Amino acid sequence: MKHSFLILAWLVAFPLFSQNSDLPTDFLTKDFHKDRRDKLRAKLPQNSVAVFFANPVRNRANDVDFVYHQDPDFFYLTGYKEPDAVLFVFKEKQTANNGTQYNEILFVQPRNEAREQWTGRRLGEKGVKDLLGFEQAFNNTEFKRYDVNFSKFDKILFYDFLNDVRNDPRDSSDLFDLQAQFKAKVNYPNKNGVTLAVEPIKNNLDMAGLDAIMDELRGIKTPEELSMVRKAVQISCMGQLEVMKAMKPGMSEREIQGIHEFVFKKYQAEDLGYPSIVGAGHNGCILHYIDNYKPNISTKELILMDLGAEFHGYTADITRTIPVNGKFSPEQKLIYEIVLKAQEEAMKICKPGTTFRELTAATRVTVNKGLAELGIIKNPDEKNTYYPHGCCHHIGLDVHDKGTYDKLQENMIITIEPGIYIPEGAPCDKKWWGIAVRIEDDYLITKEGYDHLSIGAPRTVKDIEAAMKLPSALDNFILPELGKEKKN
Ligand code: GLY
Ligand code: MN
Ligand code: MN
Repeated sequence: MKHSFLILAWLVAFPLFSQNSDLPTDFLTKDFHKDRRDKLRAKLPQNSVAVFFANPVRNRANDVDFVYHQDPDFFYLTGYKEPDAVLFVFKEKQTANNGTQYNEILFVQPRNEAREQWTGRRLGEKGVKDLLGFEQAFNNTEFKRYDVNFSKFDKILFYDFLNDVRNDPRDSSDLFDLQAQFKAKVNYPNKNGVTLAVEPIKNNLDMAGLDAIMDELRGIKTPEELSMVRKAVQISCMGQLEVMKAMKPGMSEREIQGIHEFVFKKYQAEDLGYPSIVGAGHNGCILHYIDNYKPNISTKELILMDLGAEFHGYTADITRTIPVNGKFSPEQKLIYEIVLKAQEEAMKICKPGTTFRELTAATRVTVNKGLAELGIIKNPDEKNTYYPHGCCHHIGLDVHDKGTYDKLQENMIITIEPGIYIPEGAPCDKKWWGIAVRIEDDYLITKEGYDHLSIGAPRTVKDIEAAMKLPSALDNFILPELGKEKKN
């Protein structure tokens, strides 16, 4: 009798825990996140507190929300991946009414068996203490009663509330309520319900200072972060290689997108770092082309593929441009070689101390000179016309990651991504029209130079053409035309 009661109690108390054994165990550790909070605290001014809110839940349509993605700063500092949470990191120790001393506190959404059956497990305050290592963690329903005297701080640092955040009327401590309660506690100057843009410090409210602090922190990657980025990059290189093998004229842009993304999933990447860009011919000229609509890519076209797997929060950002039929035409090859040379000129100076501006200049000079030699640029006014973007940015938890944009430093992870885009109707010989090339690689900055993380994705004309001759497991993956399936 006693025995069966225990089984029943176990079933009632842990109906969802049986699923947990399937979860990955190689996430960033709680020590990593704690160390990041300690590093943030060290950078905070005297007598201050930094406040971070979780990302809002966004509605897609009716009763379906977009897949939730945590705010990267919040994830970096906590490891918490659920919505409706707020984190306080204090410069100095605070004393609670019961005498407890603490210098950080996290409020999270409470456990709720009924909601968890629909939308997945929640850590709750206990899970956050046990798994994420917070000593001071509470359900967000307690936030209203949290009575730190905010007027005593010289500075309260937070990001201004620029996003619209919906109120869930079923929940009195969702993000909307947490932000409203916070605003009331700190006397946020938001009269008439109008959200202010970033303003200078009002009394002790500082809505501008956190950016620079988080740029300095997140721009330099730790070894744990590097291992996550390496994995995301390796997975994304595999996607590029498999597509090179599988590519055939007549495929659709979306089908090619699907092969990349299938490979990402095969290696357990949870997400994409950004919407996949797969543009054939002229579509490659649209820098962030995400329609990926074209149903039949033609044998004469190049296809530009800019995709990044996101693994445990960290993303790659890799672009390859390849000929649909497996061989670059003379014109395609000439343009491709200019872009490749531009990237290599930047790689030659890619080391600590070089500025982002110098990297960009190295790629621009090479592209402009190359296009002038081909007669595509005819006068100095046209320079940069066919290369209208910067060459380099940090990657990490964001594809355009936080970081400082002055000099390269050891343990930054950046992209170098020159491109040339010649749209239909451009003022040059028609033979160049519709050629769009971007080559984008990911690099760890080392003491002496760089480690080329995305070396696994074929990049030279010779290596791409060789990869495209390799057999693919997808060669025999032929689906029937819909409506013409064989019936048994
Ligand atoms: N995939 C976006 C970029 O290359 O910056
Ligand atoms: Mn990029
Ligand atoms: Mn990219």
